[in-house]
Amino acid sequence: MCSGRKGKPSLNTGLGKAAFCAAQTRIGRIRGPKIGENLVSHAEDHEGTRRDFLYYATAGAGAVATGAAVWPLVNQMNPSADVQALSSIRVDVSGVETGTQLTVKWLGKPVFIRRRSEAEIEQARSVSLDDLTIDKLAQNPNKPGTDAMDENRTLPGPDGTDTGEWLVMIGVCTHLGCVPIGNGAGEFGGWFCPCHGSHYDAAGRIRKGPAPRNLDIPVAAFVDDSTIKLG
Ligand code: FES
Repeated sequence: MCSGRKGKPSLNTGLGKAAFCAAQTRIGRIRGPKIGENLVSHAEDHEGTRRDFLYYATAGAGAVATGAAVWPLVNQMNPSADVQALSSIRVDVSGVETGTQLTVKWLGKPVFIRRRSEAEIEQARSVSLDDLTIDKLAQNPNKPGTDAMDENRTLPGPDGTDTGEWLVMIGVCTHLGCVPIGNGAGEFGGWFCPCHGSHYDAAGRIRKGPAPRNLDIPVAAFVDDSTIKLG
């Protein structure tokens, strides 16, 4: 039996009672945000340091896996209005190692910032448009109207050259909104959404499962050697 919320498995999470209870249990294992607690540091108004918001770094699949189940609940508990209102944030990516991923929270959603390895880049760039049977569009507002070839999904580096190293995506499954598991998960070496079994490849393109669209890409750009601006 689910404790702590007797008679209240009816939060509008889209989860059944059993899944709700399991999710509650998982929340207890991570450092769940408390109501009113501001997990994301605010923009500093003083000049030159408006540097925002490392939310949580995810170097391992486990951390992201936990998020996959609990995000709808965590999100409900964390509706800080001032954070929601920030339409633009800057993220320091100097600590993101090749082959790892940083997840930040922006506009109430997780954003994956992945620094891809050579193998990931090669894998993603070897995929042809014909292989993309579910969604052939880039879903990238930074390159509007383009197809979903890998070079239309990635973010140019600080010098403007797009080597495919940086991939920035909104970490919300396009099916019903779970947070996919990363770090090479799924059948296509990218992300996997366990909620209903959507497989995304190393460029975040949906390759199998019910999700109708590639993972969305936010407006983003490098503004200096180590800072990505979202929005
Ligand atoms: S929410 Fe991801 S597969 Fe359904």
